[in-house]
Amino acid sequence: MMTQPQAGDETAEGFVAASSIDDVRRLVRQARAQSRRIGCVPTMGALHAGHVSLFEVCRRHADFIVATIFVNPTQFGPQEDFQRYPRPLADDLRAAQAAGVDLVFTPDAETIYPEGFDTFVEVGGLSSVLEGEIRPGHFRGVATVVLKLFQIVQPDVAVFGAKDYQQQAVLRQMTRDLNLPVEIVTALTIREPDGLAMSSRNAYLSPKERKSALVLSESLALAAARLANGDFDLGAIATAMREHLASGAGVQPEYALIVDPDTLEPLSAPQPRMTALVAARLGTTRLIDNREIVLDEPS
Ligand code: PAJ
Repeated sequence: MMTQPQAGDETAEGFVAASSIDDVRRLVRQARAQSRRIGCVPTMGALHAGHVSLFEVCRRHADFIVATIFVNPTQFGPQEDFQRYPRPLADDLRAAQAAGVDLVFTPDAETIYPEGFDTFVEVGGLSSVLEGEIRPGHFRGVATVVLKLFQIVQPDVAVFGAKDYQQQAVLRQMTRDLNLPVEIVTALTIREPDGLAMSSRNAYLSPKERKSALVLSESLALAAARLANGDFDLGAIATAMREHLASGAGVQPEYALIVDPDTLEPLSAPQPRMTALVAARLGTTRLIDNREIVLDEPS
């Protein structure tokens, strides 16, 4: 008989869901005693194929995979979607188990932020531009929770998605600046068949908004195509990206830029590696997407 894994259960296959820090530390210690390399994939749950791909990438770099599921209150602004963020825990545990995750950490808010918690991580300039400018305090919350998760799990390697491009850049900087002994791996963005980047927030979109949302990936494709054709007027390309975003019914563009992949500074001249970034609002939903653009070597 199939039993559904619940937090705290240990199944015959060895899949475990734990909500206490002590349990996680004990299980990770056991794995390490077996010389297993520990991998960590932090998530906020509502798992989709993008998250599952991170588990698969993690498996290539580690042999004990810890997924964390925690909707982190400190990274949401007061007007944001913390309350309505989807929390389908039973489905998530099934998906994590099916994807070969060994341990899922599902802490509650008191476990991560007990009474009196008052220490935060601020990653400098990278945190205050783009998403950081629109969502003040967002990356402070992300960096703080990820550092805490690293301290709890103590992974050798952690995997993040390129989908949240600025987030992985901020977390790389934190890891470097604080000498964290964790290898950061960035995994490719997984998309719906029509090109929309998978996101737990896509569930908020009405059928009409879901159609309009295609303008995000299309505007990135537009930038890649123009650069591939030798059009190097980055200002004009950014304007065209923004106009394409605005052409979607009900889409309010927030930014459309071509930036340096590491510093995220907007570029005025083309370079071999660039990243195109877009953000837009559709009704009450905010979506972001990005695409790496690599120029062919001149022959
Ligand atoms: P969440 O949005 O759940 O995303 C968890 C991880 O999945 C992130 O590294 C994100 O970049 C990655 N991801 C999301 N959509 C993806 C897609 N379509 N393809 C590939 N990877 C994708 O990002 C967070 O949670 C939180 O900020 C967190 C890091 C867990 C800190 O709270």
